[in-house]
Amino acid sequence: MTTQELKNKIIEAKKATDTVILAHTYQEPDIIDVADVTGDSFFLSKKAAELKAKRVVMCGVRFMAESVKILSPETETLLPVASATCPMAEQILPERVRKFKEENPDTCVVAYINTTAALKAECDVCVTSSSAIKIVRNLPEKDILFIPDQHLGSFVAQKVPEKNIILWDGYCPVHAQLTAQDVKNCKAQHPDAVFAVHPESPAEVVALADMVGATSEIIKYAKEQQGKVIIGTERGVVDYLAINEKNGERFIQLAPEKLCCEDMKKISLEDVYNAIVGDGGEIIELPEDLRKKALKSINRMLELG
Ligand code: 13P
Ligand code: SF4
Repeated sequence: MTTQELKNKIIEAKKATDTVILAHTYQEPDIIDVADVTGDSFFLSKKAAELKAKRVVMCGVRFMAESVKILSPETETLLPVASATCPMAEQILPERVRKFKEENPDTCVVAYINTTAALKAECDVCVTSSSAIKIVRNLPEKDILFIPDQHLGSFVAQKVPEKNIILWDGYCPVHAQLTAQDVKNCKAQHPDAVFAVHPESPAEVVALADMVGATSEIIKYAKEQQGKVIIGTERGVVDYLAINEKNGERFIQLAPEKLCCEDMKKISLEDVYNAIVGDGGEIIELPEDLRKKALKSINRMLELG
């Protein structure tokens, strides 16, 4: 079967089963092509809630499918490949956060959205990379534990110096590999380019950027520029930007050998098809008390952000 034939089968199957395909912008272009909605992790879960879909196939990693389920408990939510997980989201055991809270009851625990539902249930408020600064600034507490990403946490700490922010030692294994030298090498080849980077990157890399933002903000910024933009995030974003751009070469991938998230790339068109027809993937189930606790952290994020 050709790729196009498989795509046609997916489109027919999703209509027949009333299924919506959500795809994160880090997914392969073929997956983006069959998706109904594409975007960053939080946008996708909000969209799923708005659409009130009967069934969702979430092409991304586990925490993204869990976020859909937290916000839309009635929706049957499928992750096409059960092993597609974000290593950073799994770096902390919920018990460790629970113990920290028992020992530090006045400290507010802030969790990046890239965390498991079990961790969201233990924290006080969630943040996305685009809302973290505003939310931390708006919190009544001065003492804050930021989990799990030390790089996003230190970026926020630098922007909100009035708070006492304790960092966890977690990190994204993809973005954390970047070095200032990678940026200097790329800029040497493209001296006329501006540089946009995701705040999951180390401080020495962020310090060289013209723009720091979440996936969706990087996409918006890159589209708005007239000339070359060096993209300092997962390489799916450059593929995504190039889809509707005549002059796609103006988007330059920083360190392509490093910026590939293997977990994000695990899902194939076959996996999507199998999930839709009920022949593969995992149906996400969350205990109702855990889901409600996790929802509280997400709702607080919406109030403060
Ligand atoms: P966004 O929340 O910006 O979509 O990021 C998801 C992610 O995994 C970043 O590496
Ligand atoms: Fe997780 Fe990093 Fe992959 Fe994003 S790029 S899903 S944070 S490992």
